[in-house]
Amino acid sequence: MYLTKPLLTAAVAIRGAIATPHGEPIQARQANTITVDLSKTYQRMDGFGFSLAFQRANLITNMSDKTKQRELLDLLFNRTTGAGFSIIRNGIGSSPSSNSDWMNTIAPNNPGGPNAEPQYQWDGKDSGQLWVSQQAVNLYGVKTIYANAWSAPGYMKTNGRDTNGGNLCGVPGAQCSSGDWRQAYANYLVAYINFYAEAGVNITHLGFLNEPDYSASYASMQANGNQAADFIKILHPTLETAGLGGQVGITCCDSMGWNNQAGMVSQIRSAGAENMLKAVTSHTYQGGAGGPMSTRAPVWMSEQCDLNGAWTTAWYAYGGAGEGLTWANNIYSAVVNANVSGYLYWEGVQWPNPNTNEKIIRVDNTTNTYEVSRRLWAFANWSRYVRPGAVRVDARGGGNGLRTAAFENEDGTIAVIAISSGGSAADVSVTISRGAKPAAVQAFVSDATRNCESTPATVADDGIISGSVAARSITTFFILPGSESTTR
Ligand SMILES: *[C@@H]1O[C@H](CO)[C@@H](O)[C@H](O)[C@H]1NC(C)=O
Ligand SMILES: *[C@@H]1O[C@H](CO)[C@@H](O)[C@H](O)[C@H]1NC(C)=O
Ligand SMILES: *[C@@H]1O[C@H](CO)[C@@H](O)[C@H](O)[C@H]1NC(C)=O
Ligand SMILES: *[C@@H]1O[C@H](CO)[C@@H](O)[C@H](O)[C@H]1NC(C)=O
Ligand SMILES: *[C@@H]1O[C@H](CO)[C@@H](O)[C@H](O)[C@H]1NC(C)=O
Ligand SMILES: *[C@@H]1O[C@H](CO)[C@@H](O)[C@H](O)[C@H]1NC(C)=O
Repeated sequence: MYLTKPLLTAAVAIRGAIATPHGEPIQARQANTITVDLSKTYQRMDGFGFSLAFQRANLITNMSDKTKQRELLDLLFNRTTGAGFSIIRNGIGSSPSSNSDWMNTIAPNNPGGPNAEPQYQWDGKDSGQLWVSQQAVNLYGVKTIYANAWSAPGYMKTNGRDTNGGNLCGVPGAQCSSGDWRQAYANYLVAYINFYAEAGVNITHLGFLNEPDYSASYASMQANGNQAADFIKILHPTLETAGLGGQVGITCCDSMGWNNQAGMVSQIRSAGAENMLKAVTSHTYQGGAGGPMSTRAPVWMSEQCDLNGAWTTAWYAYGGAGEGLTWANNIYSAVVNANVSGYLYWEGVQWPNPNTNEKIIRVDNTTNTYEVSRRLWAFANWSRYVRPGAVRVDARGGGNGLRTAAFENEDGTIAVIAISSGGSAADVSVTISRGAKPAAVQAFVSDATRNCESTPATVADDGIISGSVAARSITTFFILPGSESTTR
């Protein structure tokens, strides 16, 4: 603790009073002041996203009602009418077939050993994920595609199947009579990336593990940090040799919980492979972030959802795990308190069964109908305005019960986010210090009745923005900078 809020507000008011051309003291404004300091910078943002794994993408790709199909795409990716998601997390299939909701692999048959010519079979669908990815890239300009393998094909593993854990043959402590499959697995991941590139989709992030600290009855493969580092040292040069080094970076390890992931990163660092990572990815099912993870790589909270609660579309009822306002706050805690650069929900779409909050949009493919949860609008307030490449900057003040965050986008626009957990509305003013004087502002609110709707906000001659934050809402002020500098 260094400055209490009343002192800070006073300090701002004095700075503002000096700068105001009309000499009017800022204290005259009744509103609480949010002070944004563009000179104090934190992490660079990669964006916000969701997964389409386990054939959930087919709910969009197969949708026979083409109007509704486009509505679903707009809800997810459109920056004016939807969430404006900027990251897709696809599953790289490892299963021998598409039975149930399995993701089929591009190499279902053992060619006879790790050094035999692989037999790739590209079906041009990739469990429906390729088509959605193409739409995201071509229609909406999405640039970040995260391809993540839950497992290697079974014949490359100690347990001979892609389900129920097991290790990749050849990593430390995992020797197999079939040989060392590490290079074959790296080549296989490159082949998958090349099939996507030929279809016009550039994969930017590549993960070779999912929840390696959990053995699941579905596709899963286990690894500790040393085993992960061992494979990273093979995968990294393989990407370079394939000419993909500039485009694709390696992520690791999508662990079940933040502390597990921190432990794996520490082992990867000790093994000398941390600088080969483009991002560190963690889930938070077994423990969330208490603070930033110790790593030089950008960190993504790459999967979380409410697995247990019954499906809800509520914005706020009682602070339940599936409610919209809860997710506005979850994102806030990860980005502001834990230095997270990417934030991804689990599934974007899913069928009604199980009727939980695993998904953001519930799609019923037997009736061709869908229902949107307000979690989508909680994401929208972040993702539409905090674009890939934005740098988080310092934001303070705003008054009791308000959580504030601010970002400077690559194009110079500024997003100031305010989340109110209190039961009444509050007037606020926003001052931008050490940057261009705001030329215009737009404000958007999501609450119980509004989904990212426009709400009034103005810029005065002195560059100070006035607006209001509704009760239990997330409100985003989106600021277009002018050519003149502020003197604050
Ligand atoms: C999508 O269509 C494929 C056939 O092309 C089918 O196997 C699959 O079950 C369908 N999935 C959904 C979710 O509609
Ligand atoms: C996003 O929605 C707006 C408003 O409906 C529409 O004009 C625009 O074409 C949509 N963008 C895309 C890429 O479809
Ligand atoms: C994908 O990468 C290729 C090769 O680097 C590049 O020519 C192409 O423009 C990229 N496509 C997209 C959609 O970014
Ligand atoms: C935040 O993450 C960035 C990488 O995105 C890293 O360089 C920086 O050191 C991290 N800051 C803290 C406080 O951990
Ligand atoms: C709906 O999706 C399920 C699960 O993928 C699939 O088994 C079924 O065939 C689909 N039904 C229709 C009508 O597409
Ligand atoms: C932001 O969240 C509010 C709920 O507080 C919602 O009404 C509004 O529509 C959201 N804005 C956007 C741009 O999604």
